[in-house]
Amino acid sequence: MSVINSLFVGKVFLNFDTLGSTNEYAMDLLAKSKPSEGTVISALHQTAGRGQYGSRWQSEAGKAITLSVIFYPIFLNIREQFNLNIAIALAVYDCLRENCDMVDLSVKWPNDIYVGNRKLGGILIQNTLSGGKIAASVVGIGLNLNQQQFPDDLPNPTSVWLETNIEYERNVIISKLCMHLEANYLALKAGKVAELRQRYYEALYNFQIPAQYERIDGSRFTGVITGITPEGRLCIQHKNIVEQFGFKELRIVV
Ligand code: BTN
Repeated sequence: MSVINSLFVGKVFLNFDTLGSTNEYAMDLLAKSKPSEGTVISALHQTAGRGQYGSRWQSEAGKAITLSVIFYPIFLNIREQFNLNIAIALAVYDCLRENCDMVDLSVKWPNDIYVGNRKLGGILIQNTLSGGKIAASVVGIGLNLNQQQFPDDLPNPTSVWLETNIEYERNVIISKLCMHLEANYLALKAGKVAELRQRYYEALYNFQIPAQYERIDGSRFTGVITGITPEGRLCIQHKNIVEQFGFKELRIVV
């Protein structure tokens, strides 16, 4: 398959029945060649799908979207790398809102795709840095599309099918997703960061809503998300202070 209407995302589309991990395949490809920007590596089934913080990403063969896209965001400084997360998470969110009949969709910081309190998809971005810039980026997206059952050890999974009772055509949603990725990536490249951030806040789970949080030391507090720093740290106001948290330093008490 090749994405017909895009400028560059999905023009080169490498489709596999089975791979260990599309991210790993893309990283290998980058290590030994210079694939064209927007190359997509997609697999019907991953045997060693990777999640954030060294976790595994599991999905049933043919039922999920599991793909990686190669970008060269050399225009982004290392300090601004979270802006790429924002653009990508929003693209997945936009795609689902426009093409699937989803209610209560959100982006849970840093870049999980949620429906209510359930996780629908995840994003794993692996950057190659050079001279203070991002030389290359492998953007991995896992989206539970038509899966009806999940392993018991996953805390709160869901799928588009479970939420809507509609079976969506995988290739159609992949094409639409590529178009959204391209649009947001080009917006980022054109410097439209304020606009992307604003839309990210509008999509953000619990934004400006009081909620319970737990620090890694187990202490709990009620606070309100007020924003994200340029580095991607989450700002939560409680009492009269704004505390910042990095990835894995905080848990939302659902
Ligand atoms: C997360 O932990 O939420 C991120 C999950 C990312 C999974 C996707 S599936 C396609 C790509 N290949 C991988 O091995 N991981 C990402």
